This record gives sequence, structure tokens and C-alpha cells, in this order.
Amino acid sequence: MAKLLEIKGLKKYFEIKKGFFSKPVFLKAVDGVSLEIKKGEAVSIVGESGCGKTTLGKTILRLYEPTGGKIVFEGRDITHEEAKNLMWYRRAASLVQQDPYGSLPSFFTIYKILEEPLIIHKVGTKEERREMIYKALEAVKLTPVDFFASKYPHMLSGGQMQRVCLARAIILKPKFIVADEPVSMLDASVRIEILKLMRELQEKMGVSFIYITHDLATTRYFSEKLMIMYAGKAVEKGPIEKVIADPLHPYTEALLNAIPDPEPENRKKIRHVPPGEPPNLVNPPPGCRFHPRCPRAMDICREKEPPEVKIGDRTVACWLYSEK
Ligand SMILES: Nc1ncnc2c1ncn2[C@@H]1O[C@H](COP(=O)(O)OP(=O)(O)O)[C@@H](O)[C@H]1O
Ligand SMILES: [Mg+2]
Repeated sequence: MAKLLEIKGLKKYFEIKKGFFSKPVFLKAVDGVSLEIKKGEAVSIVGESGCGKTTLGKTILRLYEPTGGKIVFEGRDITHEEAKNLMWYRRAASLVQQDPYGSLPSFFTIYKILEEPLIIHKVGTKEERREMIYKALEAVKLTPVDFFASKYPHMLSGGQMQRVCLARAIILKPKFIVADEPVSMLDASVRIEILKLMRELQEKMGVSFIYITHDLATTRYFSEKLMIMYAGKAVEKGPIEKVIADPLHPYTEALLNAIPDPEPENRKKIRHVPPGEPPNLVNPPPGCRFHPRCPRAMDICREKEPPEVKIGDRTVACWLYSEK
């Protein structure tokens, strides 16, 4: 598979205190993340709340200006490309957000909501646009399409709204979609349905996906590759089956241990989750950011940041696997 997107050492720092008389204070939400995505590939990004997932997704989409590193999409370096030159990228890459209610304008019909991106990008005649809107509604299984096209957002359920958001994300036939916790605000009963629909769209359209979630258990429905984030860093990357069957990083292991086991037999086992909280990203701990919570921390982990090392088709940033 050909490469679609490459990010290298990507950083996004938020200036949370301006430095007029003293030094400015930065919150390092994303701090040197690298990742490659091939055409048609789905990658899940998993980590606890506040570890920088949304910031990473929005920076990749260039909704934020990166502080450092590089973003290359189809061979074009877009790291610092000006907004006026990014219209093609807005069309090629889209976002599905966590809150379907908050991301749809309440005073438009579903038809108008779906027509808006087509108008912005000057796509098709009125009739052609109608055709595209109906096709998108069909693709996300909101049928009869006439019925749903005439509704307003508040008339729909959360699951139906998220389908509209998906329809809007695919209507311009993008090559890449970032879905940021797309099911976390939905009822548990519709979550799997929406994830399966996303998977179906991904396979049918050959679109590449980043699926962002704090819930490692849901990634099995979706992706072939997994990236685990902790405190603004990628700690482990690899094919999903391998990472889940045999986690390398102690943090990945902890996340896996926190998933309730569907087997009643195993449920009785005491599951080990390291105590403590993720660190403050203004002043992260020295060395490995996970060391204060890591059951296997060594002296070096408190002093030096572990480099990313390749182990077969996997990558891990942990001193257990590096030359010291
Ligand atoms: N616009 C912003 N300004 C300042 N800090 C932000 C901003 N957006 C996010 N943050 C901070 O960056 C860190 C990562 O946030 P976020 O990317 O939303 O994490 P996640 O999506 O993994 O929950 C958090 O500490 C959050 O408070
Ligand atoms: Mg988030």
C-alpha cells in the first residue's frame, strides 16, 4: 500500500500564559509524535483523557498550526501551509467530532447541512448536489433519504445525528477521515453499529481513517493498526492483533488490564491498573513520562527519555527494550 500521510516528530504546544514580564508557559499537548498511514488504512489512537488525542487529530488536519515537526500528505509538506492554500486539504481530509449535537447547526435541515460543504467547495450543479446528498444519506443508512433530508438535527437520535456527521464527512469523497471519539457520547446500544458502519465506509471507499478513542476495547471493531498515547507521546505502535495479544509497553499492558473480560471465569481475577494520574503537561516528569506510575520503572526511566525502537513491525518507547 502506498503512503498517504506521514507525520514526523509532530508537536503542538499551547501558550497558556503570555510571557510579558516573565517566561511564557506552554502546555505540551502533543510532544513529538510520528506516525505513517497508508492509503485505505485504519489506525486507532488510544489513550486516557487529556493525553493529547484531540490536539493531535486537529493538528494533523491543520486546524491547529504545529509547534514543531512535519506533516506530509501525499508527498506534499503542509506543516506550515497557509489556510488560503489548504482548500484542497480541507476537501481531502475531514473530521467527525465527539459531540454530534454540538457539531451540527441546529437551524439547518439535514439537506442544507450536507449541501454546505458542496457549496463551499463549488461542487456540482443543484441537481448533482441533490444526487450526492441522497447517496451520502444512503451510504450511512439514513433511509428513506427524503424523510431524513427534511429533518432538523433535534428531531434525530444521537446515533442518527452521528450518521449525519459521517455523511457530511464523506460527501466530498475524502481520502482521509479523523473520527474523534465518534461513539463515546452515544448510547452503548448503538456504538457498535456506528463503528461497523465506519468500517464498512472505510472498506468501500478505500478511505484512510484515524479512529481516536479512550476505549481500547472498541478498536477491535475498527482498525488494523494501533497507536497508544501517554502524556503527549506515542508509547507503542503496531498491528492491532499483536499489540493486544502481547503488549510491549507497561502502559499498554495497564490499559489492556483495565478492560473488563467478557469471560465470567476471568472476571474474578484481580486486574492490575497502576495507581495515580497522568502527569501535568505543563511540567511533565523527567525521563519517561510514565515512570511515576510504572510498576517496572528503573533508575534510567527517571532520568532519560526512552527513544522509540523498532521491534519487527512494531515500535515502542520504553527502556525495557532499548540499549541504555
Ligand atoms: N486550546 C487549548 N488551549 C490550551 N490547552 C489545551 C487546548 N486544547 C487542549 N488543551 C490541553 O491539552 C491537553 C490535551 O488535550 P486533548 O488533546 O483534548 O486530549 P484528549 O483528546 O486526549 O482528551 C490537555 O491538558 C488539555 O487541557
Ligand atoms: Mg479528546
